[in-house]
Amino acid sequence: MTKKAFIFDLDGVIVDTAKFHYLAWKKLADELGIPFTQHDNEQLKGVSRVRSLELILNLGGVTLDEVEKLNHLKEKNEDYLSYISEMTHADVLPNVPKVLNFLKAHQVPIALGSASKNAKQILEKVGLLGVFDAIVDGNEVSKAKPDPEVFLLAARKIDANPEDCVVFEDAIAGIQAANQAKMLSIGIGESEILHEAKYVFRDFTKISTKFLAELLK
Ligand code: BG6
Ligand code: MG
Repeated sequence: MTKKAFIFDLDGVIVDTAKFHYLAWKKLADELGIPFTQHDNEQLKGVSRVRSLELILNLGGVTLDEVEKLNHLKEKNEDYLSYISEMTHADVLPNVPKVLNFLKAHQVPIALGSASKNAKQILEKVGLLGVFDAIVDGNEVSKAKPDPEVFLLAARKIDANPEDCVVFEDAIAGIQAANQAKMLSIGIGESEILHEAKYVFRDFTKISTKFLAELLK
């Protein structure tokens, strides 16, 4: 049996922070007079903070100098941190603990592969910091998803071949990153949006232990 390993994205996969990122970006876009919808936001999922701001500025055809950009990035993160400050274990998305426990019980290495620089803080808040065998977050990678860097580094940290890794992702960019890394990509969300994924499930309640067991074979 090949030794499988699992890599989880954080925002929108383990916790529903995708909505907080959207609200914080929406506030900034409104301030800058840039129309920004939930549909536009799909392109920002999984994408780094700096790159997200660039995409929003492009949407509105707005140019800012470096100091203004840094100020807006700081402001966005402060708004975002105020949203996440109240998070507890109850904010872990349904069935995620069950999936993590199943993998742990089968001695499967699990890693986090997130673009967020706030990842460890969020995991701490929701009581999952100790669960992962390795964590790769936005502080460690220089190339944003869809570049595979974050997942390749996560695989290396848990001593797994990329071909033996399964990735859970809610973002188009993340699915592309996993595919580029030659990992098996599982989309969490809508199949119309995540159609490049090998499998797509609405959420973790739709993933059976039978399916997980098949993946371990
Ligand atoms: C990703 C999110 O996980 O992290 C993006 O999907 C976010 O929306 C990115 O911009 C960076 O997160 P942070 O917490 O460092 O601003
Ligand atoms: Mg995500």
